Amino acid sequence: MSTSTRYKLLSLLKNSKGEWLSGEALSSELNVSRAAIWKNITSLKEEGYVIESVTRKGYCLMDAPDLLLKNEIQEKLTAKIFGAGEIVHFHETDSTNSRARELAERGSPEGTVVVAEKQTVGRGRKGRSWFSDDKGGIYMSIILRPLLSPGDTAGITLMTAVALAEALLSIAPIDVKIKWPNDILVNGKKLSGILTEMDAGMDSVNYIIVGVGINVNADIDNFPDEVREVATSISAETGMKLSRNDVICAFLERLEFYYESSRKEGFASVIEKWKSLSDIIGRPVRVDVVNGSFTGRVADIDPSGILVLEDKDGNTKRIISGDVTIMK
Ligand code: BTN
Repeated sequence: MSTSTRYKLLSLLKNSKGEWLSGEALSSELNVSRAAIWKNITSLKEEGYVIESVTRKGYCLMDAPDLLLKNEIQEKLTAKIFGAGEIVHFHETDSTNSRARELAERGSPEGTVVVAEKQTVGRGRKGRSWFSDDKGGIYMSIILRPLLSPGDTAGITLMTAVALAEALLSIAPIDVKIKWPNDILVNGKKLSGILTEMDAGMDSVNYIIVGVGINVNADIDNFPDEVREVATSISAETGMKLSRNDVICAFLERLEFYYESSRKEGFASVIEKWKSLSDIIGRPVRVDVVNGSFTGRVADIDPSGILVLEDKDGNTKRIISGDVTIMK
């Protein structure tokens, strides 16, 4: 049975809303044998769908799993590229960015998504780790193949941050802020992080992996101490439990919107959105870079995503990458 027939089977079960559907009716509706129906019911059960089967009554869907499954996401997704094709799901993997990289190396197209319920070696920026247990987080990576030269890609991370912040604002009553370049904060604590990794030649980008971690329904009491001090989750902030698949859909749709618009018009308007969602323009900061740190006031984020820092004598410094700490 093809994947699409399998999704049709699932959607028939879902639409029957607790009614029993006979094997005979399903097999004639989907034009496959009853044995094929039974086989696919078994594999849906293995995925976590609770389907009861009773002789002479047929099948009834009792419960769908709270998992980041392709069909659960695509059922609601309106994006045409991001997540519209392959969504590769792992119950557990080391890092979705690593899995996405492998797929990209093997030629997977733009928009391919990798999701995991849990990561054993979740990676953050600058060699840090990203706490990734299976208690309500989203760990996902998307393959992008932009027609940009490698030096013009900083806007991709900023665009992702804007899409993520707006998706979260649209779905939960939280006051989300972006901290340059890629942190999504609520009340000064980290809700979500972005890790973009690129493979490029001298003149062109082969692929970019946009990796996103979001603490959705996580109970922060389960976070390790050092994480709990600096991180939060949507449920911790609002008391709400959200559908993680709804969060994924909202994010992929915004990301695709900004990706398409920046393809036509460049990143300038995304940067303006970024500035309005950020709370660092004009503020005194310290920026830690690879070989030291700079202090000053954030004068601007320029159209290519570079942070412009102004020191007390009015000299400006342009910083491509670093960690910002807001000074009191
Ligand atoms: C950061 O803020 O340092 C970035 C965190 C990025 C975490 C995500 S989770 C999905 C993807 N896979 C990884 O290993 N990392 C990113």
